[in-house]
Amino acid sequence: MSGMKNVGVRTVLLLILSTPWLAASQAADPDSAKLNEEMSKQERIYRSEGEKTLEGYTVDRGLSIYSRGLPSEFARSLASLGPSDRWLDIGAGKGQAILDYYTPDYDLAQPEGRKRRGAKAQVVAMSIEDRRTPQWRQTAASLEVNQLQYLTDKRLREYSVAELGQFQVITDVVGGFSYTENLSLFMEKALAFLATGGSFYSILQDVRWEDGTNRPHYQGSPFLTEIVNADGSELKICSWLKRITCAQVTCESRSEWEPSMEAFRVHKVCDDVTVPALTPLHYQAGTPPERRFQLDTK
Ligand SMILES: C[S@@+](CC[C@H](N)C(=O)[O-])C[C@H]1O[C@@H](n2cnc3c(N)ncnc32)[C@H](O)[C@@H]1O
Repeated sequence: MSGMKNVGVRTVLLLILSTPWLAASQAADPDSAKLNEEMSKQERIYRSEGEKTLEGYTVDRGLSIYSRGLPSEFARSLASLGPSDRWLDIGAGKGQAILDYYTPDYDLAQPEGRKRRGAKAQVVAMSIEDRRTPQWRQTAASLEVNQLQYLTDKRLREYSVAELGQFQVITDVVGGFSYTENLSLFMEKALAFLATGGSFYSILQDVRWEDGTNRPHYQGSPFLTEIVNADGSELKICSWLKRITCAQVTCESRSEWEPSMEAFRVHKVCDDVTVPALTPLHYQAGTPPERRFQLDTK
């Protein structure tokens, strides 16, 4: 199983698969035509299956990789969830991290929270394409109804809080946070699904760290995700997240990964969340895509 080492593939092979959703969206201008083309390529990456799964599109990271990549607080948060708590994994792929959470080995490795945990938290996996495995179906069947759910065929933004409820822990490991073409809407939705007092944990590969000391992984290429202010100057991802109201944000660089990453924890402290809006300037399909956004002026 690959970790996050092969994730920087930016060359996209065109797979001969259909993209029915695209037919409905007529390109009105060259910019939207280009975006539609890239979204169409991206859709083919999501839907690539079996041997055709695009190299670099990793869908089976386990819980140990989540714990090593995400902020240090993640493992503690997960271990302290009890049976009435809920964990949402956005962009779960095969849901391997969740399956690992349900094993007896997990309890052996996490003795501290075991008593409080008792039965495990409810978990919801979300993925655009259905990557459920026989192991997933078997585990889900052995648990109580709705203990383990797998939501597919829609993106995060297509769900409502009325439908899904709220969660104490939300993770996104190279899922929607890395893939969306609308980063501010994604964050708004993720924080709406987060209960007050809960935390969203995620990572981004090949981005400028909070301390500004790193350079893009590929010489001559930009960072994989970039934000600029209205005047074109750089706005670090961490700085943008720190402007979200009702959120306490911590950012941790991960220089040991290749490409390097930054890990984020967004802790929701009150309900009045406002996410500074971003307009997409550039999106190039990939695993993950290359993206550039501009901060909107009010
Ligand atoms: C590269 S896989 C990562 C899977 C898993 N987290 C792992 O690390 O093995 C990307 C996952 O993100 C999902 N995804 C991408 N954009 C999404 C969005 N906006 N909403 C929900 N899922 C999304 C894909 O469908 C897929 O399940």
